[in-house]
Amino acid sequence: MIAAVAIRAADLIERKRNGEELSDEEIVELVLGFTRGDVPDYQMAAWCMAVYFRGLSGQETHALTDAMIRSGETLDLGAALGRKVVDKHSTGGVGDKTSIAVAPIVAACGVPFGKMSGRGLAHSGGTLDKLESIPGFRVELTIDEFVAQVRDVGLAMVGTSADLVPADRNLYGLRDVTATIDIVPLIASSIMSKKLAAGAHAIVLDVKVGDGAFMKTIEDARILAEQMVDLGKRAGRQVVCLLTDMDQPLGAAVGNALEVREAVETLTAEGPPDFMELVLEVCSRLLALSDLGIDTVQGRELAERAMTDGTARETYERWIRAQGGDPDLELLPRAPVVHEVKAAHGGIVARLAALPIGIAALDLGAGRRRKEDTIDHSVGIVCSAKRGQEVEAGQVLADVHARDEAEAARAAGAVLAAYEITDAEPHSHREILLDVVA
Ligand code: URA
Repeated sequence: MIAAVAIRAADLIERKRNGEELSDEEIVELVLGFTRGDVPDYQMAAWCMAVYFRGLSGQETHALTDAMIRSGETLDLGAALGRKVVDKHSTGGVGDKTSIAVAPIVAACGVPFGKMSGRGLAHSGGTLDKLESIPGFRVELTIDEFVAQVRDVGLAMVGTSADLVPADRNLYGLRDVTATIDIVPLIASSIMSKKLAAGAHAIVLDVKVGDGAFMKTIEDARILAEQMVDLGKRAGRQVVCLLTDMDQPLGAAVGNALEVREAVETLTAEGPPDFMELVLEVCSRLLALSDLGIDTVQGRELAERAMTDGTARETYERWIRAQGGDPDLELLPRAPVVHEVKAAHGGIVARLAALPIGIAALDLGAGRRRKEDTIDHSVGIVCSAKRGQEVEAGQVLADVHARDEAEAARAAGAVLAAYEITDAEPHSHREILLDVVA
């Protein structure tokens, strides 16, 4: 237990600005003081900016994470279930619907899966928004309902509880408007505090790398991965971090209902190859970390079997019904206009930039620019031609799903500009899995 100390926030800002290492006690008091309202926003923002220039040591990042966890309640799902509990987290990107496919597969393999997910902001979508395209689906369960559903149905996915890590919610909002989001130790402690507070014993992290992700380079992604794995180990949890490609959208579909449909198709092994590969990789790692006592090769076999024998799809339907939704894919909302984007000339897709596709989907109404914006679940983009693929002149590269013709035409222009079609193979062929840090 870290003893409480009296702090002067201005001193801590100055010492961090000068590159000094702060003690555990000082960091804990700063964060808890901020959560209580004793440390004002402007001082916390100044401290974050000092961290931008000076960084945090491993010990400081650990103390920060610990303080964030201590700012609220924690959940012990493992004790409630009497089982080892696994969890996953992605740093987010364009077309990332991985959790919606992974959860029913892992549960179908006999491993309980209870996950707290977030909403999307700007070009990167959130799992909760995607799930809300399912008619009737409830993302808000009480903690008791959540635990009971994981026990009885094998899985549940809900919004992050307001009682868990309140310091992160306040700090994230502050960072968002003070140019202090892209600071690796702050991202690491923000993500890991929420995962650790939710009580998983083993965690698979998916750090996205590329133009559609927070981390633009593999070097930066590796640093973030190493810090998160270190935080997990210090807390006595097993953590495996995958670094995966976000230089093009994941799978084909970008947009809420479109992504749910693609995730469900993947449950019967009918998804796009890059997305299926990522889903199998995440499932195999989660199953190998579970209490089934198997390795990743056996985990992959088990996941593949659940996809081909229909049990993953059955588990999905049970899960959606348990949370009040109707799993019939025909009931997912459909946009009134579908506009084809065709290749102007033949060649090979050398590049399909993720960020402009994410922004085009956002402009169609699939995401929100501000927290209070509402989402149109039906709209989005399906990119059927992906990097490395040969296309002919006039071939459909993508379909834009829009509310009206004018919005469709605008998005179609942006989608076409995101494609680079050349005579040559792409300079560097990137697989979906780039590296693993454990
Ligand atoms: N995701 C989080 O949860 N926190 C961050 O700081 C960045 C991404």
